[in-house]
Amino acid sequence: MAMINDSMVTALNEQVRREFQAAQNYLAMGVHLDGKSLEHLAAFFYRQADEEREHAMKLVRYLLDLGHQPTIPAIELPPGEFEGIKDIVQASLTQEQAVTRAIHELVDGALTAKDHATYQFLLWFVDEQVEEEASFGKLLDIIDMSENVLQVEHYVRHMGAEGEGGGEAEA
Ligand code: FEO
Repeated sequence: MAMINDSMVTALNEQVRREFQAAQNYLAMGVHLDGKSLEHLAAFFYRQADEEREHAMKLVRYLLDLGHQPTIPAIELPPGEFEGIKDIVQASLTQEQAVTRAIHELVDGALTAKDHATYQFLLWFVDEQVEEEASFGKLLDIIDMSENVLQVEHYVRHMGAEGEGGGEAEA
């Protein structure tokens, strides 16, 4: 069994918290959008929330596989009020950029500790963050180019349909 040091276990547990926090934040955003009858944008955020939970559970599974008992953390109350969809998508991109920095720090830690198993495990997250940042960045561009929120809904609906087929929008 691969060995990981205590500080890496702590850092991975902290990442579990970040992923669950992201899941709750996206869920709150989805519910907010759902309440505004923007069902496709809401569905997009619900999918994001599900994915973040999967990310958290991937880390939980990794810790369990190595014989460490993960901690399921308390998380902060997600935001309840938003200015509008641009505000929501910008906040999401900012959150993803913070997660990317955290993942890169974990990778640096794994390299320094010559922890090859964790390094290899984390590469999936490195790729995933590239996709997630691209997805929100693209959505921000679409919002800037759209004349109204219904055009954004139309775009996201299209994206959701593609995602169901080939995973394209599953950023
Ligand atoms: Fe799992 Fe979007 O960070």
